[in-house]
Amino acid sequence: MAIDRYCVMGNPVAHSRSPWIHARFAELTGQVMQYGKRLIPLDGFASSVHAFAAAGGRGCNITVPFKFDAAAMADRVSARAALAGAANVLSFEGGLILGDNTDGAGLVRDLQRNAGFDLRGRDVLLIGAGGAAAGVLGPLLQEHPARITLANRTLARASELAVRHRKLAAQMDVELLGSSLQDLQGNFDLLINATSASLNEAGVPVKGTTLKRGALAYDMMYGAPAQGFLTWAAEHGAHARDGLGMLVGQAAEAFLIWRGVLPPERQVLDELRRLVQEVS
Ligand code: ATR
Repeated sequence: MAIDRYCVMGNPVAHSRSPWIHARFAELTGQVMQYGKRLIPLDGFASSVHAFAAAGGRGCNITVPFKFDAAAMADRVSARAALAGAANVLSFEGGLILGDNTDGAGLVRDLQRNAGFDLRGRDVLLIGAGGAAAGVLGPLLQEHPARITLANRTLARASELAVRHRKLAAQMDVELLGSSLQDLQGNFDLLINATSASLNEAGVPVKGTTLKRGALAYDMMYGAPAQGFLTWAAEHGAHARDGLGMLVGQAAEAFLIWRGVLPPERQVLDELRRLVQEVS
């Protein structure tokens, strides 16, 4: 029988650690599968997914900049992917393409289990309103923080995302505010950076005064692109954390969807952290 094949699709994708993570998950859980990476032309996403499925692929992870396209092209999406309007996991089943979003679950697990940060009752600032922010807002609301302020350079995108999540926020009894970065006020227990500002070498787009004393400052990036944010956070007295744990967490959730087994996430995160430190 042919081996089950998966891949990560993105542009760029060369830097992706997903093949390493899934190979390690498979090894540690005794699953027989293959996982590669595919650089997808910017105008060729949907056709690449169909081609991979037609060639016997079982599923794929989706990364920048295709997460919105992935949700839009799927035949069915999970409730969390529908709310985000973005998917980072596709599964091919019975001729259908199923979309899900495990980014938020990965982030929440890393915050709560690995960083020991309890979200309940906290004042959270989420910056950015692209695919990365969209994927985590719903799962963050479900952890019952007191308030989430969603701030973005372009106010309209923050407002749109906040409006889409208004019902869930009310159900969870969380105050949800949309703001522009320029008009941002107050200080917070948790800052989550979901912007791509560091990739544009633009620095951290908020002031150090947004951090409460002893706050947690979390960057969804890891490795060299996260370094500026982590240094900035430490200089302002915050606990700093990169997004490596979120990366492993979202991958673990994808592996569970595809293989029905939850892999040993913590072990793989520790191993990956050593690997990333060695090469940087
Ligand atoms: P992703 O899928 O990684 O979220 P995206 O959809 O391109 O990518 O979103 C990038 C996010 O980073 C956006 O929120 C963007 O702000 P705008 O909506 O105003 O474009 C934010 N961003 C990028 N560069 C930034 C910068 N220099 N300062 C502040 N925010 C920035």
